[in-house]
Amino acid sequence: MAQRRSSMHGQWSSRWVFVLAATGSAVGLGNIWKFPYITGENGGGAFVLVYLVCIAGIGIPIMMAEVLLGRRGRQSPINTMATLAREAKHSPHWKYLGWSGVLAGFLILSYYSVIAGWALSYVFRAASGRFTDASADEVGAIFNNLLASPESLLAWHTIFMVMTMVVVARGVRHGLEKAIRFLMPALFMLLLIMVGYALNTGYFDEGLAFLFDADFSSLSGDSVLIAMGHAFFTLSLGMGAIMIYGSYVPEKASIAGTTFMIAGADTLVALVAGMAIFPIVFANGLEPGQGPGLIFVTLPIAFGQMPGGLFFGTLFFVLVVFAAWSSAISLIEPAITWLVENKGMKRATASIGAGIVTWFVGLGTVLSFNLWSGYTLFDKTFFDLLDYLTANIMLPLGGLFIAVFAGWIMTREATQDELRMRDHVGYRLWRFLVRYVTPAAVIVVFLEATGLLGWLMTVLER
Ligand code: TRP
Repeated sequence: MAQRRSSMHGQWSSRWVFVLAATGSAVGLGNIWKFPYITGENGGGAFVLVYLVCIAGIGIPIMMAEVLLGRRGRQSPINTMATLAREAKHSPHWKYLGWSGVLAGFLILSYYSVIAGWALSYVFRAASGRFTDASADEVGAIFNNLLASPESLLAWHTIFMVMTMVVVARGVRHGLEKAIRFLMPALFMLLLIMVGYALNTGYFDEGLAFLFDADFSSLSGDSVLIAMGHAFFTLSLGMGAIMIYGSYVPEKASIAGTTFMIAGADTLVALVAGMAIFPIVFANGLEPGQGPGLIFVTLPIAFGQMPGGLFFGTLFFVLVVFAAWSSAISLIEPAITWLVENKGMKRATASIGAGIVTWFVGLGTVLSFNLWSGYTLFDKTFFDLLDYLTANIMLPLGGLFIAVFAGWIMTREATQDELRMRDHVGYRLWRFLVRYVTPAAVIVVFLEATGLLGWLMTVLER
């Protein structure tokens, strides 16, 4: 057995704390805001099925790889990659994988914070009774007014960034760790209450059919890429967030077991959110493919009508904010640990610096919903581009290289030792997946989405 490192940034007090923190990172806007709206945009069932297959076949093996790399390296992803590459007698240039992750984290957080700001503003809108008995049109107008105001978006984005950096400055283990313990179950309960409401809309079956009846004829290559990208996004994979959380995992914890719990909880929350939202969409004659505003124009209608809606609505958005909060901190943690390790900064100083940069990039997203909404490239606004570039390209690419590193660069002994698995089916399956299936799947989906796959096929057939 190789000698064990320990992290200068500390360790989770138990494997449960790791499961909680990683679930806190995974469950966020991706599950409650993004999953429903991209499912709506990409036609439902078939898209959901591809997403589930990606979670199982790509997401889970890569999550195991990230945790194992993190725990073996016990440093920021940049230094972990360099150390482990050197140990395997390979080029320390693998550290650039860590760097691209840090960049992806900055970019994602910059828009994540703006959307979390929407949820934050909805806490107050819900509490003030604005949604009580509001019609679908009124609720839609409230949302459009928010987007039309750069000042409001900026204010909420600023508040959310400050909240995030305060927690990051104090260290991931303090504060939020305790809050997540009861907030995550509370969020889940509230989603179940929403499903209960959805059951009474009379449109529950339509909602379920939309989510689970797969019609592959209308699924484009781009939709498949978006489904795969979302599998990475929702599990926080491909940029080192899970790797840095893995670096705080105690030696004895089983990586496979914890990974299944995290991925299972994350998937459950997304599906339950979908079951709550789509019946409300159909009951009110709304458009499932209307885009990023979907939950903000559907759920308030439900809160406005249900008994206790003022309370439940306010609580719901509070919980969404917490879910986003516990995700946001993991997006910046890899950068912070690097600044502390290599630049000798204090966590607080590093947080302020990183926070200001992220906040600044976020201005682009703020403006893309109003003043800059006319500036588009490939028909995408600044926000759309950023989201597409990070979730659908940078994360899968990062995941691809993580899989290659764990499957081909690290020795069999090293990964087996770190996973604490014997040479059983489980380990062999994992190794097969990260060596062959995951890299091949990412490449095929990339080629498919760019249309290159079809071209390649015709060339090969000649
Ligand atoms: N998984 C989170 C969500 O679904 C977002 C997130 C947190 C994330 N950390 C990440 C996405 C790292 C990609 C990479 O809301």
